[in-house]
Amino acid sequence: MDRNLALEVVRVTELAAIAAARLMGRGEKNLSDQAAVDAMRRAFDTLHIQGTVVIGEGERDEAPMLYIGEKVGRWGPDDPGIDIALDPLEGTNLCAYGRPGAIAVVALAERGKLLNAPDTYMEKLAVGPQARGVIDLRKTPTENLRSIARALERDPGDLTVVILDRPRHEELIREVRSAGARIRLIEDGDVAGGVATCFPETGVDVLMGIGGAPEGVITAAAVKSVGGDMQGRLKPRNDDEIVRARRMGISDLNRIYTAEELAQGEVMFAATGVTSSDFLRGVRFFGGGAETWSVVMRSKTGTIRYVQAQHRFETKPEYFSRQAGGH
Ligand code: FBP
Repeated sequence: MDRNLALEVVRVTELAAIAAARLMGRGEKNLSDQAAVDAMRRAFDTLHIQGTVVIGEGERDEAPMLYIGEKVGRWGPDDPGIDIALDPLEGTNLCAYGRPGAIAVVALAERGKLLNAPDTYMEKLAVGPQARGVIDLRKTPTENLRSIARALERDPGDLTVVILDRPRHEELIREVRSAGARIRLIEDGDVAGGVATCFPETGVDVLMGIGGAPEGVITAAAVKSVGGDMQGRLKPRNDDEIVRARRMGISDLNRIYTAEELAQGEVMFAATGVTSSDFLRGVRFFGGGAETWSVVMRSKTGTIRYVQAQHRFETKPEYFSRQAGGH
C-alpha cells in the first residue's frame, strides 16, 4: 500500500456523508442509511483498487450492497488488493434526528489484516497516544482510570470518559463516577467517541463500554493510525451470535484483542462528518452544492490530514441529481 489510498477514499466518505446529510432529521434511520450506502457503493466504482468488504452492511443475504465479501473498486490487474471496513452512516439515529456525532467512515488494510468481526457486541477501551500502553481490559475501570490519569499526569477527576448511554452500562457508569472521573454519555456513535480520544481538542480522554464489534475494528484502525491505543473483547448476546463468531473463525470468545490485532499492519482511515461532532463539522449546504469536513489518517506515517471540500452538484449529476439517487 504505497499509495496513500485514504486520500482517494475520502471521496467515498464525502459522497456518503452528503447523501445521508441531505436526509437529516426525517426521523427515519433507514432512509439516510440507504442513501449513504448507495452513494458509497457508487463512489467505490471509481477507485483503482481490488477492494473486498470485510466489515460492511451485513452478510450477503441481509444486505444488498456493501455486504461482507463484496468486491468494490475497479479491480484493474495492477490495482492493489485491499480489505475494507466501512460504515457509510455511523450513527443512523443521530442523523435521523439531526443530532451531533454522525459520520461516514472507511478503514483500509492489506488483505487479511482486519479482524473479520461478527455482527455482535464488543467491550472497548480506547485512549489517545499519551496513554498508550497503560490500558488493560482485564483490570477494573477504576484501575484503568488511575493508570490513564497517571499517564496523562492528571487527577482521575479531570478525565472525561465517553460511554454509550445504555442500560447495560449502569454498573460501569456507577464505577466511573465513584472513581471521580467525568462522563460524557452519548446516544450513539462510539466510533466517533473512540476516535475523539486521539484528538486533545475534543476534551475526550477515554472510551469505555460495550458497542458494536464491527465498529470496534473501525475504531481500532483509526486509533492505531494516530498512535493511540485500544483493547476489545467480543461480547456475543446469544447462542446465534456465538455460532456466527465461530463460523467467522473466532475460537476464543474471551480473547482480548489489541488495536494491532484488530487492525494489523499498515492501515488507513477516512471519515467525513455528517452531523457535527467533537472533531469534524457536519455537511453544510449552500446554493448548488455542499461543503464537507473530513479527516484522513495513515498508520505508516501518523499523518493526520483535514480535508475541507466544496462540492458542486451540477458537475456530478451522477451523484447529486435527485433522480440519480441523490435523494
Ligand atoms: P448504527 O449507526 O448502525 O445505528 O450504530 C450506532 C451505534 O451507536 C454504534 O456506534 C455502536 O457501536 C452501536 O450502535 C451500539 O449498539 P446498540 O445501539 O445496540 O447499543
